[in-house]
Amino acid sequence: MDLFEYQARDLFAKHDVPVLAGEVIDTPEAAREITERLGGKSVVKAQVKVGGRGKAGGVKLAASADEAVARATDILGMDIKGHTVHKVMIAETAPEIVEEYYVSFLLDRANRTFLSIASVEGGMEIEEVAATRPDAVAKTPIDPIDGVDEAKAREIVAAAKFPAEVADKVANVLVRLWDTFIKSDALLVEVNPLAKVASGEVIALDGKVSLDDNAEFRHDWDELHDKAAANPLEAAAKEKGLNYVKLDGEVGIIGNGAGLVMSTLDVVAYAGEKHGDVKPANFLDIGGGASAQVMANGLEIILGDPDVKSVFVNVFGGITACDEVANGIVQALKLLEDRGEKVEKPLVVRLDGNNAELGRKILTDANHPLVQRVDTMDGAADKAAELAHAAK
Ligand SMILES: Nc1ncnc2c1ncn2[C@@H]1O[C@H](COP(=O)(O)OP(=O)(O)O)[C@@H](O)[C@H]1O
Ligand SMILES: [Mg+2]
Repeated sequence: MDLFEYQARDLFAKHDVPVLAGEVIDTPEAAREITERLGGKSVVKAQVKVGGRGKAGGVKLAASADEAVARATDILGMDIKGHTVHKVMIAETAPEIVEEYYVSFLLDRANRTFLSIASVEGGMEIEEVAATRPDAVAKTPIDPIDGVDEAKAREIVAAAKFPAEVADKVANVLVRLWDTFIKSDALLVEVNPLAKVASGEVIALDGKVSLDDNAEFRHDWDELHDKAAANPLEAAAKEKGLNYVKLDGEVGIIGNGAGLVMSTLDVVAYAGEKHGDVKPANFLDIGGGASAQVMANGLEIILGDPDVKSVFVNVFGGITACDEVANGIVQALKLLEDRGEKVEKPLVVRLDGNNAELGRKILTDANHPLVQRVDTMDGAADKAAELAHAAK
């Protein structure tokens, strides 16, 4: 999960990384009071999860409360690289910035370790610096066991050639930033710029943090989720523990195993070319050993998607035998009907693999009016696409 700048700022503050005050608002007028409290000036900063906000006009200095309201009016609603600005942070203005540095910690998957990246040439041109003068960017591997202590921080400071007068302060920030990184189970913490101001202090003026979703169970990240941006179907699926991604087509897809579901998307998209260009409506992997309950949960999500016109259930029985899956489908439909959900969309089911014959027989015997069996993957994809097209 990527965080907004203001959330990163709060996280940094909790770990004593030096930051400036700031408050998030979603109406321009609210900028006035905050700016007055900040001494009559502020920086209005678009809160979108994408870099390069400054260059896109999403970061503006305001020299008065009126100006802050005007800048907030400009920035709220702005589109930055496809992200609409719904919130702005009214931040304290940094006292005269003398230099802008770049520091980050990240998981280096390729080298199976952590990595520090640091540069004394941070700021809005960092990508350009990294591309044209890689020697201006110091990369230091970090042993996951040892982490970043004072000595390691000094090694990074030396590698990036930070000026002597800020060495202590930058090393201190690095130790705290590492603490943020590890304690938050982050995949990335980035500060750009880490600004040196006239007084000699260094302050994190912008933060980017990416948290490892696999670690969510040991944190309280509820309020970090961007509920406004979440697709309601995806949110409902997540609550049920399903692996679901909404797509923009018309054929609902359920399969067992991520690989099978991926290839199901391909065959449906291909078959759809012959049937009015219908496309897959979602990715949904119900995993191995799916019970009737899991099948019902999956079907409920997919049938609840108004874009879905037909459903393709594609199962290759392995550890989960097809008879269990077939029973799951029959029970799932009954469960939904008992719950008062009206199931009206046609289902095309393809069963193959372990106990396929038995599974197919169960579906034939159940003789549900909405369920059709097609025994090949291509044939079933074609049928599902045809039905979706007919219902469009
Ligand atoms: N609170 C602040 N006070 C003064 N200048 C700021 C402040 N925040 C950002 N800036 C300036 O604006 C530039 C861009 O802001 P930043 O938050 O880094 O956004 P982005 O990286 O998305 O462009 C920074 O490099 C810095 O020069
Ligand atoms: Mg930045």
